[in-house]
Amino acid sequence: MGRLTETPAWQALARHASNIAPRHLRELFADNPQRFEQLTLQHGRLLLDFSKQRVDATTLQLLRELAATADWQGWIARMRDGEAINHTERRAVGHCRLRAGNDAPDEVRAVLQRMEDFCDRVHGGQWRGFSGERITDVVNLGIGGSDLGPRMAAQALAAYRQPDLRVHFVANLDSADLASELVRLNPRTTLFIVASKTFTTLETLTNARTARDWLLHAAIDESAVARHFVAASTNLEATAAFGIAPENVFPFADWVGGRFSLWSSIGLPVALAVGFRNFAQLLAGAHDLDEHFFSAPAERNLPLTLALLGLWNSNFLDAHSQGIFPYSHSLRLLPTHLQQLEMESNGKRVDRDGQFVDYSTNPVLWGEPGTNGQHSFFQLLHQGSELVACDFIALGRSDFPLPGHHSNLLANCLAQSSALAFGQTAEEARAAGIDEALVPYRTFPGNQPSTTIVLPELSPFTLGQLIALYEHKVFCLGVLWNLNSFDQWGVELGKQLASRLAPTLRGERQDEELDASTRGLIAHLRQFRN
Ligand code: F6P
Repeated sequence: MGRLTETPAWQALARHASNIAPRHLRELFADNPQRFEQLTLQHGRLLLDFSKQRVDATTLQLLRELAATADWQGWIARMRDGEAINHTERRAVGHCRLRAGNDAPDEVRAVLQRMEDFCDRVHGGQWRGFSGERITDVVNLGIGGSDLGPRMAAQALAAYRQPDLRVHFVANLDSADLASELVRLNPRTTLFIVASKTFTTLETLTNARTARDWLLHAAIDESAVARHFVAASTNLEATAAFGIAPENVFPFADWVGGRFSLWSSIGLPVALAVGFRNFAQLLAGAHDLDEHFFSAPAERNLPLTLALLGLWNSNFLDAHSQGIFPYSHSLRLLPTHLQQLEMESNGKRVDRDGQFVDYSTNPVLWGEPGTNGQHSFFQLLHQGSELVACDFIALGRSDFPLPGHHSNLLANCLAQSSALAFGQTAEEARAAGIDEALVPYRTFPGNQPSTTIVLPELSPFTLGQLIALYEHKVFCLGVLWNLNSFDQWGVELGKQLASRLAPTLRGERQDEELDASTRGLIAHLRQFRN
């Protein structure tokens, strides 16, 4: 398509932005009483309201022209045809195949069947620990995509938890993470899942070795490992070398990216936490959204619309910060999962042609659940100097209903998006009887753009839809920005340096080439003899 910023579609957007950017959402709403009807989309029972975005019908039309220029449908076809669209790693991108139901590849369905059998044995008490006792606790040892997705999903589906089985997640290399779990656990009744696509990740292998030592300290001999360790990985040689029995390994293919791997055997802790049938519903919800994404035209396509709004905010309104605010305690880890999904995918500055881009790419993404966030950083959103694009996520029904909570929760969600959009003028403050000296402090500029996503309820199916919605948003943004969303070379440099510094910190080698700050810090830290 040539240089993105030189395409007619981009240039038309740039001209249009100079008209729209100075306009206030108050005006946009006053000009068009049909705004809500025209700027909402629905897929099944999932609603996307983007009427509080700073766009009009022309903006959307121009953004869709940009999507056509970027050939978004051609890229979907390339992904579906199994082309190696992750070109820097020469890999296809196949996570949608994992949740394709009867159309999933045979090897995927075979692993799902094994996962189901395994879950049944653990839940039914047929799978026993070395002492003959049933499993009461499962600990997932993984990090990044091998932790965040399943951790978030297991927590989001707390209302569906299996009785008598607790599922824990340990990710950090800091021993405080694993140690604080182990003190509460019994080695005779604890099962570990070592979740690592590569099975080479320092954090996960360190935690797995420590967990194995902890188990063997209590067990009679090494045969206990087979009763207490299973793995989810693509690296069968490494799982065998670790001592995990081949029948305890749930494999997946290298065309599954880490941050898209929840749908593979990396989802095993979710299946154990909520039961395999609910895990299958999670896959079904994601598949339903896939079908929508693959077939809906641009003007009705939810993921594409989310992506186009993201691009508009980043590139034409200069909003370099994206807040994610689920008004759902159960979805409190969604922002953390989306941080990896979006920032590891599209936090890049070199395009698919190896050129430096001359436009902003992914904004900094962050967030907290409502209403908690309202009592911490929302002040900055209302009266600070930053433009922050916000996603509000609301549930029609509570997953843990107690009288008097949910309507107040929803009222707060709607009040925040409304206050952020429309603010309060000085005249309104005066009319409300505010003392003149306080009027500047009690005015709110508004005009913060937001989208509200409403799920009818938080079920495995709707959660699957929601996660897939964001996955495809990420895909579309990568297409629009001409990025490879599926590699992550940026995390490598730090990893390499850490492996060089560890022996220096332990005093096993001198490293004269280190920078003065790192050398000074090592000298200081060595006094603590770690
Ligand atoms: O952070 C880099 C990364 O490669 C992620 O993409 C991945 O999800 C994570 O590390 C964990 O990798 P693995 O599953 O191979 O242990």
